[in-house]
Amino acid sequence: MKIGVAGAGTMGSGIAQVAAYHGNDVYLQDLEPEALKGGLSRIRKSLERVVSKLQDGDPQQRLEQTLGRLRSGVELDGLADAAIVIEAVFENFEVKQSLFRELDQRCSPETILASNTSSISITRLAAATGRPERVIGMHFMNPVPVMKLVEIIRGLATSDACFEATRQLTLELGKAPVEVNDSPGFVSNRVLLPMLNEAMFAVMEGVAEPEAVDQVMKLGMNHPMGPLQLADFIGLDVCLDILNVLYEGFKDPKYRPCPLLQKLVDSGRLGRKTGHGFYPYGD
Ligand code: 3HC
Repeated sequence: MKIGVAGAGTMGSGIAQVAAYHGNDVYLQDLEPEALKGGLSRIRKSLERVVSKLQDGDPQQRLEQTLGRLRSGVELDGLADAAIVIEAVFENFEVKQSLFRELDQRCSPETILASNTSSISITRLAAATGRPERVIGMHFMNPVPVMKLVEIIRGLATSDACFEATRQLTLELGKAPVEVNDSPGFVSNRVLLPMLNEAMFAVMEGVAEPEAVDQVMKLGMNHPMGPLQLADFIGLDVCLDILNVLYEGFKDPKYRPCPLLQKLVDSGRLGRKTGHGFYPYGD
């Protein structure tokens, strides 16, 4: 199957990697050549970790085979004949909406248009196209090569055939599909982000230092990462965007973003990707 991925950031490159690793021909598209370069280098590094654990077969051969199935470029037309295009561009409604319009015009009428959005309405994105029944949410978790879950989000008009094809593909990628309906933050981020936000309020109010909050959740609740470590990992700007989608979507003050989060984002401390968030990071 040919799978298109639009956006070569952390999520897009992770999705392209997993799709190629499981035997699909992949076209990874990004408008920025530098982003493509970064995405391809992340894929190689991650694949080296994945194949190093293979019990049988030649790891180097598996790596080369996977990379051999991967094409990349700045041209959207490379996505036109894909069975499915998974969009993983910047988390902004207008950006995604205009990409969905373009994809709708360029892709075969059969192509499923999926979005890896973390919280934007699938129904609204579908409305930008002439094929709302073939638009769906496919929400992967970071790091994509490791995390099992893919939330499959039905928009208002998503057809059963589109849902079933997407569910089947998710299984073929070695992931676990979970069906949810379209609602702000879906299930994952509606449940996760209020916890991260609350941890930030605890720090802001002087209840405990970030290290202590994280230790409580790691040692007491067996979370692999503490909430502030995880927020840095996700990106504080992304956390803020998702909280704002929840806050505006539900009009409920319980989703009000923590002012400390806003302050860190305003200062440019966005987490691991900028070398500093709640914690400083080396290179
Ligand atoms: N590529 C390939 N393999 C990777 C990898 C990557 N990018 N990152 C980690 N791994 C593998 C390692 O090779 C290792 O494999 P092994 O156990 O077979 O040796 C395994 O994953 C564990 O990695 P590490 O030993 O390096 O580090 P940790 O044990 O600390 O695990 C982690 C790292 C998997 C990221 C773990 O800390 C974790 O699960 N954290 C929580 C992640 C999470 O909650 N993600 C969801 C975020 S929310 C989201 O994505 C939604 C969005 O909309 C915001």
